[in-house]
Amino acid sequence: MKNIHKIAVIPGDGIGPEVIREGVKVLQKIAEWDERLQFQFDFFPWGCEYYVRHGKMMADDGMEQLQSFDAIYLGAVGYPGVPDHVSLWDLLLKIRKRFDQYVNLRPIKLLQGAPCPLRDVRREDIDMLFIRENSEGEYAGAGDWLFKGKPEEVVLQTGVFSRKGTERIIRYAYETARKTGKTLTSVSKGNALNYSMVFWDQVFEEIGKEYPDVQTYSYLVDAASMYMINQPKRFQIVVTSNLFGDILTDLGAALAGGLGLAAGANINPERIYPSMFEPIHGSAPDIAGQGIANPLAAIWSASQMLEFLGYEEWAHVVLEATEQVLKEQKALTPDLGGTASTSEAGDEVVLKMTEII
Ligand code: NAI
Ligand code: MG
Repeated sequence: MKNIHKIAVIPGDGIGPEVIREGVKVLQKIAEWDERLQFQFDFFPWGCEYYVRHGKMMADDGMEQLQSFDAIYLGAVGYPGVPDHVSLWDLLLKIRKRFDQYVNLRPIKLLQGAPCPLRDVRREDIDMLFIRENSEGEYAGAGDWLFKGKPEEVVLQTGVFSRKGTERIIRYAYETARKTGKTLTSVSKGNALNYSMVFWDQVFEEIGKEYPDVQTYSYLVDAASMYMINQPKRFQIVVTSNLFGDILTDLGAALAGGLGLAAGANINPERIYPSMFEPIHGSAPDIAGQGIANPLAAIWSASQMLEFLGYEEWAHVVLEATEQVLKEQKALTPDLGGTASTSEAGDEVVLKMTEII
């Protein structure tokens, strides 16, 4: 019997459709090879071009349409001419919030052959999994803007840390550390943020009592950013707030080969709603339409999707094939110093997969 997985594909804008095509190519190959599974892809033309034509980023019943899928595969949204806060809030953040995707999973893993700006690091030294809180914190949109334009003007941006929201992300991180047998590091800032981060640290400790088998560390965010550069080995599983996670994972992306290689998953762990998988880069208007975008980040996020759907072996094969392509340096796109096109890079990953299986 076949497992049929319904995937909603939102290619989006700019290079989004170019890189997503390669990820779909990889997934389709797997479905050809593995008789247990089949993907049913439905494409949604939403994004900024859609906005220009229809005055909205997605269909009015867009969220209802997406609800019944097993996963969402997203390229990138955003394009010159449509304000970034519109494209972000009316599509990406809407999906993340409405589908309660409160876990943002970002692997920071240096593959062999990937460029790393640090001297003398070994591949094994950079192998982290960031678990970023994805639903509240500093990005809750809470605050106020008083006396606008007056001399006594005051703005407040409130960090929202609910017990439920804080506990569930920290618990997810402990579970992940336990399952993988890795260490867990919490990144916070309890010395200066005397409410939110003191609370965070307290919850991290409280929940830790249920996981005596998990080795933990707790760093201040400023120290953590230094260690990521000079002692990246310290980090395995990392749990942190929305804002700190946003910043540190970009730092991590730079360590592990740049935007062309950075993937991210927005997870609803209870699986009540679909989770969403995406390369973390944007629509790259500067190179869109030229067929030279790097598809490896999109392919890596397809690997995350496979893992989430329960095909860990396939997830592994995709990542290993990606690493082979990087190692051989034959079919790399210009951002990685090569001359390959987007589809040539995707084809090469598929070829390497055939050699692995
Ligand atoms: P960007 O990530 O699109 O591009 C930054 C730089 O990295 C550019 O020089 C681009 O050419 C390069 N780059 C990015 N991905 C690449 C890839 N796969 N292969 C080769 N080169 C790549 O960020 P930028 O320029 O700040 O934003 C452009 C648009 O994308 C904006 O409208 C922004 O709002 C949107 N955006 C959307 C995101 C999303 O949908 N998740 C995330 C970040 C930005
Ligand atoms: Mg970011």
